[in-house]
Amino acid sequence: MRKDILRKDRKREHIAYYLKSKHGGNTLFDDVFIEHNSLPELNLLEINTNTEFLGKKIDYPIMINAITGGTEFAWEINKNLSKIASKYNIPMAVGSQTIALVDKESHKSFRIVRENIGNEGVVIANLNAHASIEDVKFAIDLLEADGIQIHLNPAQELVMREGDRNFKGILRNIENIVLNIEKPVIVKEVGFGISKDVALRLFDIGVKYIDISGKGGTNFIEIEDKRNEDMDFKDMYTWGIPTAFSLIQCRSISEELTLISSGGIKGSLEVFKSLVLGADMVGISGYILWNLIKGGYEKVDKYMNNLTYKLKVLMLLTGSKNIQDLKNVPYKVKGELKELLEG
Ligand code: FNR
Repeated sequence: MRKDILRKDRKREHIAYYLKSKHGGNTLFDDVFIEHNSLPELNLLEINTNTEFLGKKIDYPIMINAITGGTEFAWEINKNLSKIASKYNIPMAVGSQTIALVDKESHKSFRIVRENIGNEGVVIANLNAHASIEDVKFAIDLLEADGIQIHLNPAQELVMREGDRNFKGILRNIENIVLNIEKPVIVKEVGFGISKDVALRLFDIGVKYIDISGKGGTNFIEIEDKRNEDMDFKDMYTWGIPTAFSLIQCRSISEELTLISSGGIKGSLEVFKSLVLGADMVGISGYILWNLIKGGYEKVDKYMNNLTYKLKVLMLLTGSKNIQDLKNVPYKVKGELKELLEG
């Protein structure tokens, strides 16, 4: 079978198996305690959720994270999600554009995102970490993207029957991309978390944007296991760094790092706690996709409307007038998260 056809099938299967997966694990956000303030002295109308990301003004520090592209079905998904991104003026990243390097027909499923979001909005390209400078330039140009995500997914590849087995030279390649590409380069995981050591190695070669994409949401070991009939990886379903732990660890490296919290973000508390723990942006993939498949554009719209309202409520209940104030809200850690941080 042609490689591009295989890749298209894989993308469809990822979505089907994502919906069947239990996508469990624990983000450990429940182990973060934030005190309620009964005397906030604020008016809900003056709560300001605006922020800046990749040089553009956006209305909320929430983004639709990488999911898909390539097929007719992906076009439909990207069309709906980019309409949501446009309505709420939030960033959106597309799924891996590897398919776009070899298949012209796939381009429209990616371009629809820029078409719907327009020039004022933030659109982010996506490729794997083996990508050449030419590939990165192509992926950015196709979307007139404001930046590119480079994904690190060794756990996923190793469980995937047809996946990569060699991960040598990747740090060098990322360094080369950062040095030669003018747009911001975001290095991201896909649901297993970025450790402090990995974040430090990335920061040392000039990476300024990291999406931690930790454990607790979409689980690609489980998804790929369901696709792989040769082997059984059930005993590895709990692998990964919980999102809350990964976020605190990476934040401790430098205030200069722009951090995106993702992996298992569903409700307003996870968004809010991410921002209190020091995230600059919060990414959601699986749960937005789930809403879309279950109830179409309207269900995602309702979800986003609730989520953004509740973020304002939580800001008010901690006396936070704007997104910057959230970074100064005190928090305590308990339970497993505390043990991990003290260990
Ligand atoms: C993903 N994710 C992903 N990431 C990436 O960098 N490139 C990609 O092509 C994809 N494809 C993809 C497909 C599907 C169906 C899902 C659900 C997810 C990973 C995604 O961006 C994110 O890092 C993880 O899913 C963790 O976040 P959630 O899903 O728990 O919010």
